[in-house]
Amino acid sequence: MTAQLSKKNEAWSARFSEPVSELVKRYTASVFFDKRLAPFDIEGSLAHADMLNAQGILTEQDYADIQRGMAQIQSEIAAGQFEWLLDLEDVHLNIEKRLTELVGDAGKRLHTGRSRNDQVATDIRLYVRSAIDNIGVLLRDLRLALLNLAEQHTDTIMPGFTHMQVAQPITFGHHMLAYVEMFSRDAERMQDCRKRVNRLPLGAAALAGTTFPIDRERVARTLGFDDVCHNSLDAVSDRDFAIEFCAASALIMTHISRMAEELVIWMSPRVGFIDIADRFCTGSSIMPQKKNPDVPELARGKTGRVNGHLIGLLTLMKGQPLAYNKDNQEDKEPLFDTADTVIDTLRIFADMAGGITVKPEAMRAAALQGYATATDLADYLVKKGLPFRDAHEAVARAVRACVDQGCDLSEMSLDALRAFSILIEQDVFHVLTLEGSVAARDHVGGTAPRQVRSAIARVRAMLE
Ligand code: ARG
Repeated sequence: MTAQLSKKNEAWSARFSEPVSELVKRYTASVFFDKRLAPFDIEGSLAHADMLNAQGILTEQDYADIQRGMAQIQSEIAAGQFEWLLDLEDVHLNIEKRLTELVGDAGKRLHTGRSRNDQVATDIRLYVRSAIDNIGVLLRDLRLALLNLAEQHTDTIMPGFTHMQVAQPITFGHHMLAYVEMFSRDAERMQDCRKRVNRLPLGAAALAGTTFPIDRERVARTLGFDDVCHNSLDAVSDRDFAIEFCAASALIMTHISRMAEELVIWMSPRVGFIDIADRFCTGSSIMPQKKNPDVPELARGKTGRVNGHLIGLLTLMKGQPLAYNKDNQEDKEPLFDTADTVIDTLRIFADMAGGITVKPEAMRAAALQGYATATDLADYLVKKGLPFRDAHEAVARAVRACVDQGCDLSEMSLDALRAFSILIEQDVFHVLTLEGSVAARDHVGGTAPRQVRSAIARVRAMLE
């Protein structure tokens, strides 16, 4: 009977009298997606073995054998020669089995004082930490690219919108800095999440800890963790750190999707504010004139899957009794896909920002339509002593007259304007220009070119 047991059952073979079916084997295996944890699994195993040796639980010889075997496995994986077996269920058992093939009993001793439960929790934390560090670099690259763009356009005027209606003139530089702020908060959020990711589960073993005299602090130090997880049940079962990572990722993608949406609108020939370099666009198989902003559209679309993964993981965790349950094996694919999607998207957006051509004339023409300086006229009247509500009313009447006559406020004669308020004088025309309007918003956070320049300098100093 034992001879007929599948290899998968070897890890716990004595307890079982029949092999699992092929379907169950495939259903329960994770090796085809968790094999990408291999580098972290090996790193964790080596740190564990080092500690076992230092504590006198493993001999020098066993430790040396494990190191040698792991080095061999690493190179087999790197060379694509490692044979991943479904029969061995997951990355952990595949590596342990190969180690035992290579070095014998030392391989079998590696799992002393450890369980796959604390092992996998450690691997995932190492994986998420490395994803956070990659994302940190990419968020910086993206912000630097946006700062460069903003710097070229501190004085380029465009219409600012609310409700997609022309609201007030702003500068394109100021608009880019709004995204820089969002991505700065995203970077902060990732760093904050990292603090809770960077704790060591190993030592929790299956759920209750281990009877061996382990040194968890040593393993934490070797793996660069800030601390150990302080409760063994919690250490093996909760995936809140991964959920937090997915939440921070969902916000990144949500910010990306807002920017993507604007790029798509701005590139529409009806708007024509920008052009995006050809390498980020594609044509149509039927309409020869088309140049489609595929990259921003896809990024907007991919936001859906990342947001979905967040809900998926929350739902995976919801209602799980302590401690480890196999449900948690389902954390990996959404987690990997989240990190892959965010990393690819950030990389491509940082590159694409450098490939945006701004068309200042089109932006200016749009800002001149829609009475973007109406608020400036109201503020002007307030400064001459009129209460704001009355000023608002006077300007509303003036705008209405402009709509009837098909002209802009700045195109009205002084006499015509004075019909709405006798407080209006010749100096009003400076206020009604786009340049006057943006320059007047001259305080921290305002759109005045002077403020935009100092905001750029502030963020640049922070990034350098
Ligand atoms: N492949 C498993 C996972 O990803 C590893 C831990 C399995 N532990 C267990 N007792 N079945 O969660």
